[in-house]
Amino acid sequence: MSLAYNHAEIVARELKPALYELDGISRQTIEAHYKLYQGYVAKRNEILGRLAGVDLSAANQTYSELRELKVELTFAIGGIKNHELYFEHLGGVGGDPKGAFGELVTRDFGSADAWRADLKATGIAGRGWAWTAYDWDEGRLFNYIGDAQNSFPVWNASPLVALDVYEHAYFIDYGTDRSAYIDAFFANLDYAVIDGWVETYAIRR
Ligand SMILES: [Fe+2]
Repeated sequence: MSLAYNHAEIVARELKPALYELDGISRQTIEAHYKLYQGYVAKRNEILGRLAGVDLSAANQTYSELRELKVELTFAIGGIKNHELYFEHLGGVGGDPKGAFGELVTRDFGSADAWRADLKATGIAGRGWAWTAYDWDEGRLFNYIGDAQNSFPVWNASPLVALDVYEHAYFIDYGTDRSAYIDAFFANLDYAVIDGWVETYAIRR
């Protein structure tokens, strides 16, 4: 045993029923996300288990078991965290954010429309994800871009909105029209959930 890993296996969270009743995002699409999410949970558990027995003396930056496991672990964990955010904050009625999150949006983007326009464009420019996150060092919201589950999150920022723009998120419902899907995403956001995160994290407004 080269590493004494102390990790517990995790299980996939259940989907809330409202996710199967979204307006413009089909049950079939949600099931596609969920199947992938279950796969990320399984791989996270598998990789952590394998890391417990890895040979540290064979570590190598070109190829080594340690490298491959640790790189792919970030993909699995990203897939879990991103989808848990995604599932949690859908199921609402959209509109403009009016609570705690809305205050931050108005302060840092000028208006809800400006925030949405920037996040939508970021989602179209990305290959996998776009996030609105609060950067604790800069003290403001920013819309970050992601190409995969594990690129390119920044340190010390808390994601509040996670927009999945992988093809499985829209191809069934909209074909190549990612823009129409993003509009549907905004229309199903549950701002009460996002406001709850702002309160839980105690983000100053
Ligand atoms: Fe997804």
